[in-house]
Amino acid sequence: MLVAFEAGSILRALVLLLSYRVPRVMVDLFLKEYLGVEDVVGTELVQVSRGKNGGNYFTGFVSGNGLVVKHRAVKDWFGDRKPDVGIGSSSSPQDYLFLSLCKEAYVANKEDSNKMPRDKYPKPLVFHDGRLAFLPTPAATLAMFLWLPIGIFLAFFRLFVGILLPYKIALLLGTMSGVRDRAETEDPKTRNRGGGVLYVCTHRTLLDPVFLSTCLQKPLTAVTYSLSKMSEVIAPIRTVRLTRERERDGETMQRMLAEGDLVVCPEGTTCREPYLLRFSSLFAELSDEIVPVAVNTTVGMFYGTTASGLKCLDPIFFLMNPRPRYSVRILEKLPAAMTCGGGGKSSLEVANYIQRQLGGVLGFECTSLTRRDKYLMLAGNEGIVDSSPPTSTKH
Ligand SMILES: *[C@@H]1O[C@H](CO)[C@@H](O)[C@H](O)[C@H]1NC(C)=O
Repeated sequence: MLVAFEAGSILRALVLLLSYRVPRVMVDLFLKEYLGVEDVVGTELVQVSRGKNGGNYFTGFVSGNGLVVKHRAVKDWFGDRKPDVGIGSSSSPQDYLFLSLCKEAYVANKEDSNKMPRDKYPKPLVFHDGRLAFLPTPAATLAMFLWLPIGIFLAFFRLFVGILLPYKIALLLGTMSGVRDRAETEDPKTRNRGGGVLYVCTHRTLLDPVFLSTCLQKPLTAVTYSLSKMSEVIAPIRTVRLTRERERDGETMQRMLAEGDLVVCPEGTTCREPYLLRFSSLFAELSDEIVPVAVNTTVGMFYGTTASGLKCLDPIFFLMNPRPRYSVRILEKLPAAMTCGGGGKSSLEVANYIQRQLGGVLGFECTSLTRRDKYLMLAGNEGIVDSSPPTSTKH
């Protein structure tokens, strides 16, 4: 169901809502990477060709070997030996047959399947991809399909309200349509301070700077790396593209800061789980007027981020949620003693200090993982999505 939706199409997911199957490719990576499983046996799918970048394409048809019959697969794999432990589902008659071959057998009931608490995970789950933010049980999936037409309408309504209307009205209409935007400011002066403040945000979705701007009710400039063209065009605030070349980016940001307030997300990429990625330290060299901002989001149905999917749909998916929620907590300005210029700290010290501070406020764990780690794991590339020349850094 999940893969049909993520990798296929909405139509395919709808067809699948009526049937069920688990091909090996769907679970292989998870079981091997995450649970350290040695071998996975499952139904094989017909594979057409290898894509240019080494990707596999599957037709969705079951290969000539047919569906896996569990007790036969167990016999083939183990031969004369008996498997030590078997786990089956109480609702599948097929499972009782293969369980009878195992030395020890367990049957899982639907009622037993509680969510595992995060601290019991065998490995920390930092990165994952895909759009669905709920467990796609048949009932929940049906609810999603019923919601889709309303969700799509709401997403465009919320989008245009955000782009076209002044902050106060946009905020009101947004709230009425179910968007919750909780803002807290610890620094009463932040609202009125003149230009040139550098806001340093945790990065949950590409809408972070937009919601921050709405909370502050003033226009900000956001620096971005690989924003899709469409997001750039529809963004209600000014965006400036960076190149990931330190010197050039530093100059660009310096120039923007001279003109007004700037938002940076030094993690460089979004993370959905309660972890903060490593903060790139470049921002710390540019200004002593730094205001850390703790951003958190909650979604019930769709994730507004993707590593391997269509990034231009990110804001739409986020806004399609029945109750997308943003919480923006603007902390006090960084004390002078903790800055590069006034406090003589290194940019790395400043970046790490802010990462720890924001991690503390949000209860998120700080990691030294980077954008590269995320894309290598989720998309098998280094995350350079757009190779067109950066437009706004030209002189
Ligand atoms: C942040 O959002 C997550 C996901 O919705 C939620 O579980 C968590 O409690 C939130 N944390 C804070 C500090 O707001």
